[in-house]
Order: sequence, then C-alpha cells, then structure tokens
Amino acid sequence: MTILTIANQKGGVGKTTSAVTLAHGLALAGQHTLLVDLDPQGHVAFALGMDKAPGLYRLVVDEEPVTSVAIYSRENLDIVPGDKKTEKAKRTIVISNFPAEIMTRVLKNAPYDVVILDMAPSLDVLHISALMASDWVLIPTKLDAMAVDGVNEVLRSMGEVAERGHRIGYSILPTFFDRTTRETIVQLKALVQTFNSHVWPPIPQDTKAREAPAFGKSLWEYCPRSPAMIGYDDGHESGYASTLHRVVEVLCG
Ligand SMILES: Nc1ncnc2c1ncn2[C@@H]1O[C@H](COP(=O)(O)OP(=O)(O)OP(=O)(O)O)[C@@H](O)[C@H]1O
Ligand SMILES: [Mg+2]
Repeated sequence: MTILTIANQKGGVGKTTSAVTLAHGLALAGQHTLLVDLDPQGHVAFALGMDKAPGLYRLVVDEEPVTSVAIYSRENLDIVPGDKKTEKAKRTIVISNFPAEIMTRVLKNAPYDVVILDMAPSLDVLHISALMASDWVLIPTKLDAMAVDGVNEVLRSMGEVAERGHRIGYSILPTFFDRTTRETIVQLKALVQTFNSHVWPPIPQDTKAREAPAFGKSLWEYCPRSPAMIGYDDGHESGYASTLHRVVEVLCG
C-alpha cells in the first residue's frame, strides 16, 4: 500500500479536483484505491455525488477500523468522507499522545493498493500527520505568486517531517494553466527554474472541471476528453491523463 498526500495551504488551487480525478483514474486502472477527505469542507463526497459524513472523525478520534469507516463510491474506489466534525477531530488529536503519528497508525494495514489524502488549505496537526504517513506528496498550485508561495510552505513542513526521520518525494502540479495569460507563462517558467523536474506538466483551466462537481461526477464520467483531462498544449504532455501515468510511476512503478 502506498500513500499519496495532495496538499497546498493555499485555498482553491485544485487539490480536491486533483484528488478525485486521480483517485478515480487509479481505480479505473485497476488499483484498489481509498480517497480520504481531511478537510472539514467535505468536498470529496460532494464532488462524487455522495453525502458529507464524519468518516474522518470516526477514523482518527474513535479509531474505528478503516474497513468499517470507508464507503463504496465507484468500482475499486472507496472514500472516507469528511464534514465539519473534522474540525473537532483536529482539536481532539492535537492534545492526544503522538498526534503526528495518527494517520500512520489508522492507515496501517489498510487493505488498498493506493490511499490518497486530500488536505484542507491549512497547516495543522492533520497536515503534519498526513505527511508523516505519506510516500509521496503532490502539490497543486495555481500559477500566481501567492499560490507558488504555498508550495514553499508545504516544502517547509516536509522539512519538519524529515527532521523527524521521514523523507518524502514530491511533485508540483501547476493547475488552471491558461496559455493566453502572460502571468501564467512567466510563473510556470519561474517554477520550473526553481524546482526543475519536480514540476509536472500543467493542468489546463477548463470549465468542465468547474462544472463536474455540481453533477456529482468525476471528470472521467463527466467529460473524459475535456482540456483538463487531456491538455491542449499541442506537443506537450499535459492534463490529468498524463498526470495519472506519472502518479502510477512514482507510486506503483
Ligand atoms: N482545471 C480547472 N479549470 C477550471 N476550474 C477548476 C479546475 N480545477 C478545479 N477547478 C474548480 O476550481 C474550484 C477550486 O478547485 P478545488 O476545490 O479542487 O480546489 P482546492 O484546492 O481543493 O480548494 P480548497 O483549498 O478550498 O480545498 C472548484 O470550483 C473546482 O471545480
Ligand atoms: Mg479541497
């Protein structure tokens, strides 16, 4: 079992969209996948047309086994939904013994090939705990200065986790890519100059990606040939379909 965390403390950069799209993509590729929502907004369930629920709370506070908390979503894809009780879970585990170990402990022996953790836009105890459990971190970022600063914050917390003896590989996923906007191109170049091959090809800005959650469908169901899925930058590999290949390489390769 390998664990992928999707994190950026900056809000609205495409974390949940990436988490849902990649989790469903892995499931369609035959990987038994669990998607865990660590955000009190509960958007994972919403985006998949399911109800928000205190799944994360039951997992980390009640320490119910993952097998009884996980809910079937699609073939090969289960989710641990979140809701506002996740906020309460944070307050509870912060005063517990070994809060940084909680995700490692509750996911130990989870009967899945891949577990994806969709983080809230915050740097809190769940964030550190998720990093401690992770094999790889994917950092989606919009191509503007403040979102790129969020990347540095995630890298800093990965540094903290490394000091505790757990080193993690990472990739940066530029999102909302719009090749007609100069700022986007400038920021993408700067990102590549700083982080080199850690930067993966971008996910295009795409109204289909914005619409899909309202229908409770993943992009594979709503519009598998949309720009966000296949990219539109001729000659360059981009979009979630190519991101999925890279995720499979780093996690299952
Ligand atoms: N490539 C895209 N093109 C256009 N809209 C997108 C794209 N990806 C995501 N969106 C939309 O942008 C909004 C924010 O995306 P998303 O919820 O995935 O971000 P997030 O980082 O998880 O946000 P939060 O920090 O609040 O958890 C959503 O309405 C989503 O549907
Ligand atoms: Mg989100």
